[in-house]
Amino acid sequence: MRKSSYFLSTATALAAFSTASASTNFDYDPPSSVTWEECNQDMRCANLSVPLDWAKPHGKQISISMTMIPAANKEKRIGYLMVNNGGPGASPSEYLVAGRDFLKSSELHQYFDILGPSPRGTAGSTPVKCDPEPWNRRFPQRPQTEAEFEEMREVFHARGQSCVNQEDNDILYYMDTTSVAKDFEAIRLALNNETMNFLGFSYGAFLGSEYAERFPDNIRALALDGIVDHSVSGQNIWGPEANGYEVTMNQFFEWCEKNSTCALHKIKNLPSKFDAFIDHANKHPISAPSCSNKTSDVYPCFQNVTGDEIFRNLQSAVCFPSEIGIGSIGGWTTVAQFLYQAMFKNDASFFSSSQYTSHSAVEMSYVSIFCQDFPRSNWTATEFQIKSSVGSVATPHTRGLGEFWYLQGICMDWPSPVRNPPHSLQPAFAGRNMTTPILLVNALYDPETPIQAALSVQRQMGENARLVIRNGSGHTSYNTPGETHEAIEKYLIHLEAPATGTVLKD
Ligand SMILES: *[C@@H]1O[C@H](CO)[C@@H](O)[C@H](O)[C@H]1NC(C)=O
Ligand SMILES: *[C@@H]1O[C@H](CO)[C@@H](O)[C@H](O)[C@H]1NC(C)=O
Ligand SMILES: *[C@@H]1O[C@H](CO)[C@@H](O)[C@H](O)[C@H]1NC(C)=O
Ligand SMILES: *[C@@H]1O[C@H](CO)[C@@H](O)[C@H](O)[C@H]1NC(C)=O
Ligand SMILES: *[C@@H]1O[C@H](CO)[C@@H](O)[C@H](O)[C@H]1NC(C)=O
Ligand SMILES: *[C@@H]1O[C@H](CO)[C@@H](O)[C@H](O)[C@H]1NC(C)=O
Ligand SMILES: *[C@@H]1O[C@H](CO)[C@@H](O)[C@H](O)[C@H]1NC(C)=O
Ligand SMILES: *[C@@H]1O[C@H](CO)[C@@H](O)[C@H](O)[C@H]1NC(C)=O
Repeated sequence: MRKSSYFLSTATALAAFSTASASTNFDYDPPSSVTWEECNQDMRCANLSVPLDWAKPHGKQISISMTMIPAANKEKRIGYLMVNNGGPGASPSEYLVAGRDFLKSSELHQYFDILGPSPRGTAGSTPVKCDPEPWNRRFPQRPQTEAEFEEMREVFHARGQSCVNQEDNDILYYMDTTSVAKDFEAIRLALNNETMNFLGFSYGAFLGSEYAERFPDNIRALALDGIVDHSVSGQNIWGPEANGYEVTMNQFFEWCEKNSTCALHKIKNLPSKFDAFIDHANKHPISAPSCSNKTSDVYPCFQNVTGDEIFRNLQSAVCFPSEIGIGSIGGWTTVAQFLYQAMFKNDASFFSSSQYTSHSAVEMSYVSIFCQDFPRSNWTATEFQIKSSVGSVATPHTRGLGEFWYLQGICMDWPSPVRNPPHSLQPAFAGRNMTTPILLVNALYDPETPIQAALSVQRQMGENARLVIRNGSGHTSYNTPGETHEAIEKYLIHLEAPATGTVLKD
């Protein structure tokens, strides 16, 4: 494909810079060509083989699948833009399909072949396999006694073992994010060795910083949206995330009080009504009638939901305040309607967790990846109780619950060792002058990647990164129209990054 002169001048500048620095020792022979097939109407799909274990580049190979929306304007084409929508374990292919209209109307579509490689161990690529049965067992979310702790631990242990017992499942031991970053380098080399353009959301932002740490000289532009800080251990990542969830719920309650489109607008003292509702639902689970209705969107899921179980699905729901954009289920307006149904109509179908029927599911990939990137917490029953009390005091509405609470629990007995333990990015960036700084973006009130993490990653990258803050709620910013969306496009296309500390209104 033709490259624009804009691209060439940038590539030349970067190439001159690359030769001056030590070349990365990366043993990979790209195939002579990549075969693309039409898929998902007008998209393109291809597969690429990469080593299972990057320490044995000529050993066993696995498959990486890639989905692409080709650039609309071949004259303006800058290159490939690799996207990763986080999870971890989420499907970039589904992201492109669900976001088709939004992405096609974006500026990025004019300039980039938007490419979503499915990370190793996730659907499309060689997936990790586990038996769904223990993944469909319920467990005490916040164990208060030794017996509840053991019950939880037994379920988590069974979940891990259900993956060990699968045939031809070596991928279980090689799903860390460093390996994924190396796969992305292999993809870059296989697709004509053009410099890297990357847009990563959430855990995909973490993948981007892993890539930058290893291959800083091969980057043209790297935009990271919704920042994960890998310099803190799993145990210490819990507190800030719980806090981010709590402050976002407070924003949600405030929005409801002010805005009559909120279905809970007329409820007096909503935050305390919500707390009482959770307490009540813990004693008397709320029914979830749609979960046994085969024609409903949510089927199959559990027939009823406890208060503590509500928190995980509520957390993902409050990630998207806006009705418009990729990943939105209809914004806070819809979340409020679902919450109204649960609180006043005894129908918590929306908040009920899925039941799995397949040996590969996002949830299984999610846990497998996370548990190889963050160390084991190994808490005792007593420590769990103490943390649970701390959570209830520090974050009274959300009670310390959320993703990291769950992940620390399930990683305790996870069968594969940690391959990519937490570490600071500082040594990799100290003294480095990247041609274009990395763009870091975070919302002020983010229920999953709190602003503290973005500040920490900015500090570790120093002058090589610019942090832009969206003055609003929700998780990630590119996927909703607004100033921040525009700033990300301007950066990726024109390499213009706002000054660190810039606050954008939406
Ligand atoms: C990729 O491009 C860089 C810069 O142009 C060049 O130095 C390097 O040799 C190329 N690598 C391969 C494998 O072609
Ligand atoms: C990629 O691999 C999958 C699974 O083996 C296969 O179904 C698909 O056709 C392949 N796609 C291409 C473009 O080769
Ligand atoms: C109320 O919320 C809706 C949905 O988020 C939003 O579009 C609208 O601008 C808000 N109205 C006010 C007055 O804040
Ligand atoms: C099942 O779900 C469908 C689709 O949402 C709905 O139209 C139907 O009324 C539901 N059936 C029952 C028995 O609730
Ligand atoms: C709640 O759902 C479980 C299945 O997950 C079922 O065994 C139990 O009877 C249900 N409880 C009520 C009160 O409906
Ligand atoms: C976890 O705790 C158990 C029991 O106290 C202990 O036997 C084990 O060595 C610990 N594991 C780690 C990784 O610290
Ligand atoms: C980076 O730039 C600074 C001045 O801006 C300079 O002192 C330093 O030597 C440069 N480092 C490298 C590795 O080029
Ligand atoms: C965010 O916006 C609010 C309302 O407009 C304003 O009061 C506040 O100062 C802004 N925060 C920042 C960090 O700019």
